[in-house]
Amino acid sequence: MLVLGLETSCDETAAALVEDGRRVLSDVVSTQIDIHRRWGGVVPELASRNHVVQLLPVVDEALRRADKALQDVELISVTTGPGLIGALFVGVHMAKALSLATGIPLVGVNHLEGHLLAARLMESPPEPPFLALVVSGGHTTLYAVEDFGRYRTVGSTRDDAAGEAYDKVARLLGLPYPGGQPIDQLAQKGNPAAIRFPRALNVPGVFDWSFSGLKTAVREHIRNHGVPEGQALFDLCASFQEAVADSLSKKLIAAARELKFERLVLCGGVAANSRLRGLTEERAKERELKLFLPRISLCTDNGAMIAVAGYEAYRRGVRSDFSLVADAGWRL
Ligand code: KG4
Ligand code: ZN
Repeated sequence: MLVLGLETSCDETAAALVEDGRRVLSDVVSTQIDIHRRWGGVVPELASRNHVVQLLPVVDEALRRADKALQDVELISVTTGPGLIGALFVGVHMAKALSLATGIPLVGVNHLEGHLLAARLMESPPEPPFLALVVSGGHTTLYAVEDFGRYRTVGSTRDDAAGEAYDKVARLLGLPYPGGQPIDQLAQKGNPAAIRFPRALNVPGVFDWSFSGLKTAVREHIRNHGVPEGQALFDLCASFQEAVADSLSKKLIAAARELKFERLVLCGGVAANSRLRGLTEERAKERELKLFLPRISLCTDNGAMIAVAGYEAYRRGVRSDFSLVADAGWRL
């Protein structure tokens, strides 16, 4: 089954063609980062307006790269939530219009289910049940994936998402938005043990996170020592990154052991982080757990993961009609 996946929940306009929820024929992402960067974060109104401009060309490009016509598509899958309401509207209305014009069935999917199922596009994909940590700019949530469509929240952040912490710390350091990649790069040259930043909620059996205290600790450090430069900047980035990666990977591994999961998935934009990947890999190996790390282009927002989620939803009987509406606060 050939599925067209559409994603417009935030600042990425994305479309992909995926066959049978496994084989990516094309995956086109048009990012708006340069537009939002000068404002230091995503401006919702600008995001919606740019999705309007970009979405059709992105869909055309996805069809062209896959060497397919719209008539070949057998299912249209679109992110319905959570996300920015105006941005979601653009994708949902485009999906409905395409479906109305062609008669191709339509299914609305949850963006987080997309992140969870991105690992299905790996060469040897995880089969449920598995434990999956979604770490992105908007979410830090640990899910028990009991089966496709059966997701149970095991833990989540009590305040900032991990990506949000990265973006806020980058701002304090005068680094560009989004802050994840620049901090990750600077951290390569730093000493992760230079500054001992706090690990919140470091209690056995608690699988929730908190990152606002860490952000405050960085702010305090800057207040006392000034905005760092050179080696001091590298050390601060490495120490902050270590605190985030340590806390995320430690709880993921602990939860797997306590809840008896053998397979783990790390996904969402922050799963692109080099230290988080390395540390989690190391700890999973020590405990003989099988860790699935999707390639970076599958971790950040993309249309392929939405096509997979749509395919799996359709297989279990989920259908949407023209009453489909965007739901900015949709909880998985
Ligand atoms: O999943 P995503 O593309 O969009 C959301 O659904 O939020 O995640 C974006 C987030 C941003 O906060 C960004 O700073 C972070 O992912 N990010 C990273 C890295 N690359 C992107 N965080 C840490 N290290 C990275 N290498
Ligand atoms: Zn996302």
